[in-house]
Amino acid sequence: MENLDNLKSATLEKIAAAADVKTLDEIKVAAIGKKGFVTEQMKALALLDVEAKKAMGQKLNAVKCEIETALDVKKQELAEKELNEKLKKETIDVTLPIREENIGRIHPVSKIYEEVVAIFGEMGFEVADGPDIEDQFHNFNALNTPANHPARQMQDTFYIINPESDNFDDSYVVRTQTSAVQIRTMEKKQPPIRIIAPGRTYRADYDATHTPMFHQVEGLVVDKVTTFANLKGCLYDFVKAFFELDNIPVRYRPSYFPFTEPSAEMDIGCKKSKTELKIGAGDDWLEILGCGMVHPNVLKACGIDPDEYQGFAFGMGLDRLAMLKYGIPDLRTFFESDVRWLKHYGFMPLDESSMTGGLSNNGGLAR
Ligand code: DAH
Repeated sequence: MENLDNLKSATLEKIAAAADVKTLDEIKVAAIGKKGFVTEQMKALALLDVEAKKAMGQKLNAVKCEIETALDVKKQELAEKELNEKLKKETIDVTLPIREENIGRIHPVSKIYEEVVAIFGEMGFEVADGPDIEDQFHNFNALNTPANHPARQMQDTFYIINPESDNFDDSYVVRTQTSAVQIRTMEKKQPPIRIIAPGRTYRADYDATHTPMFHQVEGLVVDKVTTFANLKGCLYDFVKAFFELDNIPVRYRPSYFPFTEPSAEMDIGCKKSKTELKIGAGDDWLEILGCGMVHPNVLKACGIDPDEYQGFAFGMGLDRLAMLKYGIPDLRTFFESDVRWLKHYGFMPLDESSMTGGLSNNGGLAR
């Protein structure tokens, strides 16, 4: 018995003094491992009579428990110590000032993307997504633009031949418009729907205001009562927030898109001169987006009853918005990956766009 007490105290002392987990493991094996002293004495219990066996058994169990607890406590202590040392070593001094020349810039398209998401996010819109390579059903047919529809010629489409079919109607396209995401969203979700879908789009076109890959943002609202007045209010609030102006003249011109009826284009007031474009005042107009009430055929193609639901939609070019807002004259330069250009037109990464903290953070312009 005395032997056991001594061994126990010696073990507890060793545990307390252990400097690492490996030593702890060795102590554990020597005490309660297969050949540890506690285990050996437990095996020897068989030789004792009933009373002695009971007393000794209880005592051995208590010792085992005590050693196990001590091991656990010490193990935790060592792990914490190790972590603290590691954290101390890895500390970085966050008060060191940034060396501006060493950090990259946010591309104007990414900035505009963030701004648009911030504004519509505040209005309760969710961001939806779809693939760049689309089938003709989502890019055209379901948008009330069947094969041979004249409106298909409004867009210079890149087709991708479907290797599994000789029929041209089965060809894929790289999407010409984010409007395809309207269809993908309505296929998945019943109204109420309130989404925007920013993303890449493609058309065979190339000049100062057109590039084969460009960016659009689509908007779609579908509910039981959704009116043209709602559309106007929503888009008016958007342009005011986007151009950061309290007051901005707008007008809606009748237009045509196959997937909306009636359709309109929205213009904002501006003053154009040879050298300058001033948004928000003047006698000139600048077209900024297409919009309209969702055509009943579009709702039907997605299994939504047009007698019960109606919606509005809009679409605009993100790159064009960037050119207008930040005075960038040539769209082609956006995609030339010229770091000097990005240094000039880009934005500091730390200035996140938000409706409360500031949208464009002009103070943070890298220029
Ligand atoms: N998809 C059209 C285009 O690329 C833009 C557009 C116009 C989208 C009207 C809409 C809309 O959702 O209602 O030219």
